Amino acid sequence: MQHALVERLSSPVPRYTSYPTAPHFNESIGPEVYADWLGRLAAENRLSLYAHIPYCDRLCWFCACHTKQTLRYEPVEAYLKGLHAEIAAIGARVSREVSVTALHFGGGSPTLLRPDDMRALKACLEKNFSFAADAEISVEMDPNDLDEARHDALADIGMTRASLGIQDFDSKVQKSINRIQTFEQTRGVVEAARARGVRSVNCDILYGLPHQTLETLAETVRAVLSLAPDRIALFGYAHVPWMKKHQTMIDEAALPGVVARFEQMAMAADMLVSAGYEAIGIDHFALPADRLAVAARQGTLRRNFQGYTDDQADALVGLGASSIGQLPEGYIQNMPATGEYLRRVEEGGLAAVRGYALTEEDRARAFVIEKIMCDFGFSFAALAACHPAFSGIIRAEAVGFAAADRDGLARIEGDRFVLTAAGRPFARTVAAVFDAHLASGRGRHSIAV
Ligand SMILES: C[S@@+](CC[C@H](N)C(=O)[O-])C[C@H]1O[C@@H](n2cnc3c(N)ncnc32)[C@H](O)[C@@H]1O
Ligand code: SF4
Repeated sequence: MQHALVERLSSPVPRYTSYPTAPHFNESIGPEVYADWLGRLAAENRLSLYAHIPYCDRLCWFCACHTKQTLRYEPVEAYLKGLHAEIAAIGARVSREVSVTALHFGGGSPTLLRPDDMRALKACLEKNFSFAADAEISVEMDPNDLDEARHDALADIGMTRASLGIQDFDSKVQKSINRIQTFEQTRGVVEAARARGVRSVNCDILYGLPHQTLETLAETVRAVLSLAPDRIALFGYAHVPWMKKHQTMIDEAALPGVVARFEQMAMAADMLVSAGYEAIGIDHFALPADRLAVAARQGTLRRNFQGYTDDQADALVGLGASSIGQLPEGYIQNMPATGEYLRRVEEGGLAAVRGYALTEEDRARAFVIEKIMCDFGFSFAALAACHPAFSGIIRAEAVGFAAADRDGLARIEGDRFVLTAAGRPFARTVAAVFDAHLASGRGRHSIAV
């Protein structure tokens, strides 16, 4: 029964890190609209910053991130010059009364930056924005990059959360995705970060990789648990070779099928929950005391372009090539091509190339989709309180879906539309029911489980 369900419900749907999703952004939103939106941020807004470093010193074949391999540092230096210019241009348009409560360095691999470049980047951000004293500062780390000097620099920039890419420790799997990384090396990075006062460690692991079996994945999960991370992200490998050419290096014949993927996900999730982690949303696990777990219990978990977060900021500014921001008025994306991004920011301009201005209906649908992805359900009363004009139509859709749902994915419980335990792994598929833009989607997404 469950196998049939998995096969039927695994058709591609978005990951809903925004609504509408990025393929629906359009070119009518550019630098002028962006400047206007930035200027409207006021003292009561809390701001999150995301800085994208689109470079790595290795190229993992599975990778779907916006990054480029470079073995020379010159392109990174040139990019940083542009990033500093963009930070100044955006900082000049944002009121200093707006407080930055979170800063995330992502990529690519921010850890390939030279130590003094990390410090200079943080100093530039501090010069141009007002940081809250307790701002979260998180960094995506490739354990392969780290040495003592880089650990010291990360401590100097005030890193509060270290997010390590692990993926899988099995040597056959590692070879098949061109990502060699030993357990000892990874443990060394966790210990060095903790020795410098980092209290929150996240590890990314993947299922659905070539040659992965339940046994190899269980070994990886046991090894990860021995590091006692505060959070674990368990992502399904998204195989999208039509978008990422280097994924054609992956042997498709060695990829687990959709049912095997589902079993891998379910087994790893069981192991993590048995070890004391709380399941958060569709792909995260956190120790009960971690802020993500606290937010999930309190119903304040959020989802943005970086995935699940406890950050309550109401505005997100993306810095760097390809990065996406989310302001009260809508979404904005920077030029993805690094050369063109640099040309624009070095001329003193903003690098926004597309975006989306939210309508009232979009806001109502974004609300329920985010609630389904974070809390596996939503309250009709809360929907009506925030979005009265569209609550009736969305409520009717929810009631209609629950009535017609022979798979037992969701039901109406009093004032709430809730996903059942069987429905939770298909949260993306259920969220898609409320997506009014899906039919016109121009992108092709990864499979749903
Ligand atoms: C920017 S990387 C992490 C930091 C660092 N570059 C590293 O690899 O260690 C972000 C994460 O995205 C996830 N990721 C990348 N490509 C993926 C794909 N095709 N499917 C699912 N997750 C993917 C990986 O788990 C990876 O750790
Ligand atoms: S997984 Fe990380 S290190 Fe590997 S190519 Fe992607 S961003 Fe770079």
